[in-house]
Amino acid sequence: MADSVTITDNRTGESLEIPITAGGVDAGQWRSLLGNTWFYDEAFTTTAATTSAITYIDGEAGILRYRGYPIEQLAEKATYLEVAYLLIHGELPDEVQSATWNHEITTHTFIHENVRKRFLEGFHYDAHPMGILVSAVAALSTFYPDAKDVEDPDNRMLQIIRLIAKMPTLAAGAYRFSLGMPFVYPDNNLTFAENFQSMMWKIAEPAYEPDPALTRALDVLFILHADHEQNCSTTAMRVVGSSLADPYISTAAATGALSGPRHGGANEAVIRMLTEIGSYDNIDAFIRRAKAGEVRLQGFGHRVYKNFDPRATLIKQVAEEVFSVTGKNPLLDIALKLEETALSDSYFVDRKLYPNVDFYSGLIYQAMGFPLEMFPVLFAIPRTSGWLAHWLELIEQDQRIARPRQLYTGEDERDYVPISER
Ligand code: CMC
Repeated sequence: MADSVTITDNRTGESLEIPITAGGVDAGQWRSLLGNTWFYDEAFTTTAATTSAITYIDGEAGILRYRGYPIEQLAEKATYLEVAYLLIHGELPDEVQSATWNHEITTHTFIHENVRKRFLEGFHYDAHPMGILVSAVAALSTFYPDAKDVEDPDNRMLQIIRLIAKMPTLAAGAYRFSLGMPFVYPDNNLTFAENFQSMMWKIAEPAYEPDPALTRALDVLFILHADHEQNCSTTAMRVVGSSLADPYISTAAATGALSGPRHGGANEAVIRMLTEIGSYDNIDAFIRRAKAGEVRLQGFGHRVYKNFDPRATLIKQVAEEVFSVTGKNPLLDIALKLEETALSDSYFVDRKLYPNVDFYSGLIYQAMGFPLEMFPVLFAIPRTSGWLAHWLELIEQDQRIARPRQLYTGEDERDYVPISER
């Protein structure tokens, strides 16, 4: 059987055979037969907008790989910075490359004092840290005007290092400001995850000493969130990046896309949902509301995973390790019971709705002491390396500007009516 599809224009009888390559058909060939007939594909459910060599997902089999490496192996053996290098460069670093990369990231963690004083501290005291992060990342663009030269490979790499390094500093700065606590400067003697915790929690200790088990757990969570191919925020990164906007502006756009409750804001929404449910007695009623379409079961369902989300499986293990240090999150029992109830209900089974990465991550963050508003920020920190890997790939592929078509359903031409006659 031929590995191709044949399309026929029934108006003219003309046919065209299009080969299936890498699981897709080339729209350029479709266009050669049906030049002005567009695919209607709301939310891009069947459109591949690019080729990519970064992340592989098989949603039916629950497989996730970064550059070919199974997520399970990376979560067990790698560090987040090693994974960030892998995503950006395509290969795991050797010892020299790893030492250089870690040094570069560590020495770019500081932010300009005006970013702290004028931007971070300019917000209202109760500003959501995701709003602060989006704005502060965009503001970095004005501090590094050299970033506009996206055609220069060395320049691109410098901005990538700056962005990966500065996200935790901006995130922790937003948190400290919301509490009225003094800003903590980065400590170059600490690892990426240690330094983030130091900037978050340090009070008056000469040197902050984070718990090793919690540090490893945080690093694993960073690995699990580092990339997820063409999700909503990565698509935002690629669309904005395709206009050749600088990487700070593009990353701000991606961070904005991540903030919504259907995407990176879901971990925050899960805790609010579990708190609202409050006890076992209310689970059945909540499930009924979800089935009636009144609410969504936060942390459930995924566009791509239809059997299980491999990140959710790994996160459950991390949760056990974290709770052995922090004590169990009291909402865990409600979460487990809710999961059990949903997974034995045909509504969720038939629609293939399973817990996703966000169902348990919020419980871990909360047990570690992070406030709810910081949860999507904790997602944005590691996802920055994934966004930048895609941005780099896009620029290197020299992709054209993203510009979808539409099917116009509005009014036909009509004449302007003066306001007094309407
Ligand atoms: N609770 C109840 N019903 C749901 C849910 C849910 N969480 N998710 C989907 N459905 C139903 C939906 O109503 C629809 O039913 P019907 O066919 O009767 O109309 C069906 O399942 C298919 O849903 P969909 O909206 O077409 O699915 P989608 O692929 O467009 O949306 C999703 C995927 C993740 C946005 C959605 O499942 C959702 O809103 N989940 C809750 C939010 C969430 O956990 N988001 C985190 C996603 S994973 C991390 C990340 O990417 O950031």
